[in-house]
Amino acid sequence: MTDVFGSSHKDVHEQVVFCADQQSGLRAIIAIHNTRLGPALGGTRFYPYGSEQEALADVLNLAKGMAYKNALAGLDLGGGKAVIIGDPATDKSEALLRAYGRFVQSLAGRYITACDVGTYSEDMDVIARESSYVTGRTTEHGGAGDSSILTAYGVFQGMRAAAERVFGTPSLHGRRIGVEGVGKVGSRLVDHLVEDGAEVVVCDVSAEAVERVRVRHPQVETVAGAAELTGADLDVFAPCALGGALTDSVVDRLRAKVVCGGANNQLAHSGVEKQLAERGILYAPDYVVNSGGVIQVADEIEGFDMDRARARAARIYDTTLKIFSIASEEGVPPAVAADRLAERRMSEVGRIRGIWLGG
Ligand SMILES: NC(=O)c1ccc[n+]([C@@H]2O[C@H](COP(=O)([O-])OP(=O)(O)OC[C@H]3O[C@@H](n4cnc5c(N)ncnc54)[C@H](O)[C@@H]3O)[C@@H](O)[C@H]2O)c1
Repeated sequence: MTDVFGSSHKDVHEQVVFCADQQSGLRAIIAIHNTRLGPALGGTRFYPYGSEQEALADVLNLAKGMAYKNALAGLDLGGGKAVIIGDPATDKSEALLRAYGRFVQSLAGRYITACDVGTYSEDMDVIARESSYVTGRTTEHGGAGDSSILTAYGVFQGMRAAAERVFGTPSLHGRRIGVEGVGKVGSRLVDHLVEDGAEVVVCDVSAEAVERVRVRHPQVETVAGAAELTGADLDVFAPCALGGALTDSVVDRLRAKVVCGGANNQLAHSGVEKQLAERGILYAPDYVVNSGGVIQVADEIEGFDMDRARARAARIYDTTLKIFSIASEEGVPPAVAADRLAERRMSEVGRIRGIWLGG
């Protein structure tokens, strides 16, 4: 049974809203973890959850993750997320999305939505017909468009920081880098790596995805699957497919000195971060290095400007280095250091809202 009010203070969510519209079939949950830094920003996941409990557990967990990600991305935004229960292939309709948009609007800006698994920029355009609190719209509608552009760029910056720490230079020239999953983020990451002169090895369950990369970069090597990739002689392993890539057995077999990739929730369970540290592998925390996407869509709130958003995503390099320093100073794995830094910003910057403004 999911505990809505949380079992520890870190798990308490400020607000959880259940939204239903029978005729369009909308069943959605919006979760706001906290608004200490500003309105809660996070995407809408459209997914055929097996039960309401499963959907609730997922949205609570994802909203908390966004609070930490937005805090470390330097944004004046809190953390939130929404889920729509259903199969996007068959259940998505204009009426359902617009009904959802009206619920987002009813929160009067406490929650700002964006794309996630099962929702696309075109869907955000539809939701935006009912709500002003929508980002990640298409570029035709003044939106930030495909967020994988700056997600991949940010991962590249995080990887440069890890290389600086481990190899003494941020350049990835001549480094052998394995990319697991070459979808939107992974394939764009390969572009950056090839441009920097790295030797790239990829794998993907989709032959078409691999082929698209090989057409652009014939020199890229391919291996049959993740097992072969993680056991290969690599300098850096970049998980860019689904979550949970770093299991106990993967960590045992890894020969790479650095793990840095775009996938969310890479650690299969808590404790893996310690195992990585014990094996001398530097792990660049996923939600730090993949925050370029949220930086890109958050920029839309001010009126989207790609150059400004890119400059902000470039700072992922400094944030990643800072996390590695805190990890060494405080004797904790980088994943723990990242959480501490995020909590520090939420608390220090959030606190100033307590200064009375008069009037
Ligand atoms: N798109 C973004 O802006 C963004 C932002 C932050 C985090 N992420 C995360 O990055 C990851 C990739 O996102 P994306 O937008 O590129 O998705 P995507 O669906 O475009 O790409 C995922 C790729 O992984 C492949 N894949 C799936 N299972 C695999 C496996 N077992 N082994 C190898 N390849 C496998 C798929 O075939 C696909 O090509 C996800 O974890 C996502 O949550 C994405």
